[in-house]
Amino acid sequence: MEEKLKGDFTSMSKKKYDTITVEKKDGVAWVTLNIPQRLNAITLKMIKELASAIDELEEDKDVKCVVLKGAGDKAFSVGADVTMFSSATPTKTQTIAIKGQELTRKIELSSKPFIAAINGYCLGGGLEMALACDFRIATENSEFGSPEIRLGIIPGWGATQRLPRIVGLAKAKELVMFGDRISAEEALKIGLINKIVSREKFEEEVEAFVKKLVEGPPIALKYAKHVLNFGSQASLEVGLKVEAEALGLLASTNDAVEGISAFFEKRKPEFKGE
Ligand code: COA
Repeated sequence: MEEKLKGDFTSMSKKKYDTITVEKKDGVAWVTLNIPQRLNAITLKMIKELASAIDELEEDKDVKCVVLKGAGDKAFSVGADVTMFSSATPTKTQTIAIKGQELTRKIELSSKPFIAAINGYCLGGGLEMALACDFRIATENSEFGSPEIRLGIIPGWGATQRLPRIVGLAKAKELVMFGDRISAEEALKIGLINKIVSREKFEEEVEAFVKKLVEGPPIALKYAKHVLNFGSQASLEVGLKVEAEALGLLASTNDAVEGISAFFEKRKPEFKGE
């Protein structure tokens, strides 16, 4: 994808950050974790830069969805940069956990769909970032895991909480308490990822996947994301109430008028996010 995407982006901000790149094209923001020599291990600086980039993208009306990916051909990310822990005090480590949690929460609370495009290792904090995304697409050679237990610690950016919500408590315990890596095939089987694609068609498939989201109704997508996320943590009664209110609100949007008109006129709707 690197080669293909070079030169034809309408907007680039490569110089702005040291640890990530942000490139925008056709309604999609491609955010790349960019420390390939360390397999995109996540530093505090990277967390800060990601948080700042996401805040900016949230305000950008031209950005309809965000894809997170890793630079190089080996990893999405191998997780927190372990060097952070060698000299860390309990308070410093707690700060690292809180900063990472704030970042994953930012992804989850964003009004835009986030897709983790995974090619290679997706471990520790890398997996935790991917878990906060709305969708995970991975190449067949990808591997997933929460290896922190092998270092004598546990995940701190949400895996103990989001993994059970996504794959169930039994599988989450297996991943967190054994720390073994699993294949993309196994990850798909347990519902950890949405789709496996071949390495050769990776970019093409991710682009096709996000195109559907870019063409979708932005306000309805925002509410769908929020109601699904909120409802998975609330009682059924509360979740149903929130769903009904969101639907009521959406019915008053121009996008809903357009969607329904297009249906009757047998044409493709053109949603404007209004
Ligand atoms: N933090 C900092 N550096 C890391 C890292 C991490 N989490 N994971 C890998 N790196 C570095 C390695 O130290 C190595 O650097 P070097 O070339 O200066 O020695 C470089 O990235 C390449 O990693 P390497 O281990 O040589 O690659 P590999 O293909 O043999 O193994 C892994 C890949 C992912 C299996 C292995 O790197 C690993 O187990 N990493 C740790 C994953 C982890 O525990 N994550 C949770 C952290 S809390």
